[in-house]
Amino acid sequence: MSHRQLTVTAVGIVGGGPAGLLLSHLLSLCGIDSVVIDHRTRRDIAETVRAGILERDSVRLLVESGASDRVLTQGHEHAGISLRFEGVSHRIDFQALVGESVWLYPQNDVFVDLAETRERDGGDVRFGVSETAVVDITTDQPGIMFTDDAGVPHEIRCAHLVGADGSRSICRMQVPESKRRHYFREYPFAWFGILAEAPRSAPELIYTHSERGFALISQRSDVLQRMYFQCDPDEDATAWSEDRIWAEFQARVAGEDGFALQEGRIVEQMVLGFRSFVGEPMRYGHLLLAGDAAHTVPPTGAKGLNLAIADVRVLAEVLERAIRNKEPDALDEYGPRALARVWKAQHFSYWMTTMLHHLPNAEPFDTRRQIGELTSVVNSVAGSTYLAEAYTGWPGER
Ligand code: DHB
Repeated sequence: MSHRQLTVTAVGIVGGGPAGLLLSHLLSLCGIDSVVIDHRTRRDIAETVRAGILERDSVRLLVESGASDRVLTQGHEHAGISLRFEGVSHRIDFQALVGESVWLYPQNDVFVDLAETRERDGGDVRFGVSETAVVDITTDQPGIMFTDDAGVPHEIRCAHLVGADGSRSICRMQVPESKRRHYFREYPFAWFGILAEAPRSAPELIYTHSERGFALISQRSDVLQRMYFQCDPDEDATAWSEDRIWAEFQARVAGEDGFALQEGRIVEQMVLGFRSFVGEPMRYGHLLLAGDAAHTVPPTGAKGLNLAIADVRVLAEVLERAIRNKEPDALDEYGPRALARVWKAQHFSYWMTTMLHHLPNAEPFDTRRQIGELTSVVNSVAGSTYLAEAYTGWPGER
């Protein structure tokens, strides 16, 4: 048996998705070493289709930290969205309401940019590892054991261990059951998502309420579009023909206002799970959790990646203070500061979801009440501003 190869670093990071890589990048900017590991290959992560909307501060952090300039050159600024109900679209004008925009830039591209940036800067990132185990998180030398993609066993010892290992986090389970609290909300539906080779149907995203259920008309580029419709959680994505998928989308967006949904060849179709989850605390001993490892939101409103980025912004700051300024108490701030935003985003995602989706046992009362709610939002400056603030990422928070 070969000996474990030992690496000593300041911050060991489990998970090389956007959260783990961004943290590693921000730490390197202040001279702090880290090692990132992930059981997936770089290609697997790059090819996993995820959401596509970045809040204004997510964009600022990616650009100002030098992680991505492509977000500005290849991404698209969106200064609003439409809420569509009873066959009519109503624009929520983010710029007029809060003076902010969001950017359409897919999460896979954020990952690609971060992986290239880490590679360019000589970051230590190991993809495709196996047999990962996290040990000794309550000692001052926590460790990560793993086998690399060539079969060589490794051990990383670090001062701080970060779990950025996604919704099926192994790090999260290191917090003893008696010390953790997990909050869940399951939803009785899922999203059927497609990528289609078609032109844009509208300049901005359209969130649609219909009696057949929710639909979202999103985008990827001039020639590729991303769309979703609410479906049963047990729906089999492969059982749907292209014709049936387009008929379902067309029925949900139908209306008299002239909107025409552009169809095209469907190049990918999948069913996406749907739930709300928060694990508290986000820090235990020398373990810190970030992104989906600590919380997941339903996709409505695209908060998942943005929350991960917001966690990492705070985490990089408190780790720098703890490590460079010898201020260990700074770490106490992490959970409370991150969770304040997490719960706001939980509420926003839940609110958008319940306002726009059809509940399986909904009565006509419920549907009329949703129309009342949507009408109040689009016809009121206060209502639309509330949505615009949340969608663009809340003002005045860093
Ligand atoms: C996308 C996904 C979302 O959940 C959302 O609210 C907006 C856009 C997307 O994949 O483009």
